[in-house]
Amino acid sequence: MLEQLGDRARATALPLVPRCAVLDTAIHLLCLWQEDGQEGHPRRTMARAEQLARALRLPARRVRAVRWGAALHDIGKEQVPPAILQKPGPLDPLEQQTIRQHPDWGVARLAGLPWLPQETLHAVRHHHERWDGQGYPLGLYGSAIPLSARIVALADVYDALTNRRVYKAAWTTEQAALYLLAEVGRQFDPELTRLFVGHVLGFPHLLAWTRTREVDGFRPQP
Ligand SMILES: [Fe+2]
Repeated sequence: MLEQLGDRARATALPLVPRCAVLDTAIHLLCLWQEDGQEGHPRRTMARAEQLARALRLPARRVRAVRWGAALHDIGKEQVPPAILQKPGPLDPLEQQTIRQHPDWGVARLAGLPWLPQETLHAVRHHHERWDGQGYPLGLYGSAIPLSARIVALADVYDALTNRRVYKAAWTTEQAALYLLAEVGRQFDPELTRLFVGHVLGFPHLLAWTRTREVDGFRPQP
C-alpha cells in the first residue's frame, strides 16, 4: 500500500504538503490494521514518541519525521514468521537471529518512498540500538544513535511493558516508568528518559527516587 501511494505521489509530482497528507492517511490506515496481541501498538507508540519530540521542542518537520518513524518502526516484522512473533516462550538463537533482521527489512520495505525523511528511516533501522552499544543491528553507542531512534525506542518499550503480550501481563504505568529509569545509561538515553518519565508520563517524583537508589540489578516485577 505504501509503495503504491509513493508511486502515485511521484507520478503526479505532488508537492511536499500533499505527500505528507497522503502518508499521514496511509499511516492512519496502517494503524487500523492490527497484529494479534498488539492492538493499537503503532498508534500508541506514535502518540508517545510525538509527545517526547514536542517536549524536546523539535521543529514541526522533525516531529513529523519522528511520528512517521514511530508508526512504521516494526513494519519489517511482516517478514518474520508468525510462529516466532507469537511464541510465548524464549526464542532460540536462530529465531533471535531472524527477528533481529526486522529493522533492516523495514528500511528495505520503505525503499519505495524515497521522499521519506532520513530521520524516519533512522527510527525504523535503529530503534533496537542501546545506549550502551549492546543493541542491534549496528551496535551504535550513545549519541551516535540517531535521536529519532532513541525517542522511538523509549515509546516502543514503554508501550510494550504497559500492554499485555503473549509472553507477559500488562505492567502498570509506574512499574514501566521505573523500568525505563532503571535502564538509564544502559538501554536508554539518560536525558531523554528523564524527560519522558518526568514530563511526558508525569512522574517527576520518580526522578528523585532514581537519583537516590542503586539501579544496577533492579527489575520491577510485572
Ligand atoms: Fe522492533
